[in-house]
Amino acid sequence: MEDLQVLEQELTATVNAANDLNSLEDIRVAALGKKGRVSLMMRELGKMTPEQRQEFGPALNGLKTRLLDRIADRKNEMEAAALDARLQAEKIDITLPGPAEVQGSIHPISQVIDEVTEIFAEMGFAVAEGPDIEEDFYNFTALNIPAEHPARQMHDTFYFPEDEDGNRKVLRTHTSPVQIRTMMSSPPPHRIIAPGRTFRCDSDATHTPMFHQVEALVIDKDIHMGHLKGTLEAFIKAFFEVNNVTMRFRPSYFPFTEPSAEVDIGCDFKAGEIKIGEGDDWLEILGCGMVNPRVLENVGIDPNEYQGFAFGVGIDRIAMLKYGIPDLRAFFDADLRWLKHYGFAALDIPTLSTRGV
Ligand code: DAH
Repeated sequence: MEDLQVLEQELTATVNAANDLNSLEDIRVAALGKKGRVSLMMRELGKMTPEQRQEFGPALNGLKTRLLDRIADRKNEMEAAALDARLQAEKIDITLPGPAEVQGSIHPISQVIDEVTEIFAEMGFAVAEGPDIEEDFYNFTALNIPAEHPARQMHDTFYFPEDEDGNRKVLRTHTSPVQIRTMMSSPPPHRIIAPGRTFRCDSDATHTPMFHQVEALVIDKDIHMGHLKGTLEAFIKAFFEVNNVTMRFRPSYFPFTEPSAEVDIGCDFKAGEIKIGEGDDWLEILGCGMVNPRVLENVGIDPNEYQGFAFGVGIDRIAMLKYGIPDLRAFFDADLRWLKHYGFAALDIPTLSTRGV
């Protein structure tokens, strides 16, 4: 009979030294398998005298139990180490940008919408939305453009086929229908902007069939054109990041505003570059006016109690001006090289609201 203490030390040392599950299993079989060293010694017990058995039996059983425990512990250690190694090896750092060719960027239109939204949010405007496929009522009639009104020809409208009731839906020709939806969905006061897609059947160097506008609407008591002018001035300064801006209100006509104006901003074309804010040249950038009392009546607001102003800006146009983008149509070509040049980093956050507003 071997010295059990020496045997236990030897077996424990081999278990401790085992580096993988296979060798650990080999060690277990060699000690505790059918023909293992410990198992063979167990068999010897039968041949022993009762006194010897009394001594060796419990000692051998103790050795077996401790060895099994040690093997189990070693197995756990190895599995934990293997898992650690795997987690290390398979670690994906999701904070790193992907390879350049799969890196997304923000389209200048999205960037400008974010910037405009941020500037108006700071002035207390909420963002309102309406559908691209719009009912004639919201796009025209409620905006004081009845069926035979010549202003309908100002918009080259995409019409849908007539439905059973004889109504034709349209792709909205401007964001102004969101004014109507806003005023019909809750009582005044209102202070909203509505950025979004608009559509007209028109395509040349300066027109695309789909383009973008942002509408603004303020309805409250005692609103006047001074509020309109102040709001526009604050917006233009913040958006173009200039401290001064000259503005020109030219009388104009829109059926939904009375009076109506088109706004030009002062600019300077020098050395092939355009400087916004001051100068001898003028750039038309938006249409605006005081909400026509007839529009207020159409949505059940008493014009003697409430007034308001509205304006509509072409987003694509102000994006081109701000970021020096010469060609409108390139906006919608989905050319990756163009996007790489004019796009914005995916995690860019517009910070215009802290400036000058
Ligand atoms: N909806 C007009 C257009 O697309 C732009 C516009 C002009 C919007 C005057 C307004 C406004 O809200 O008051 O041509």
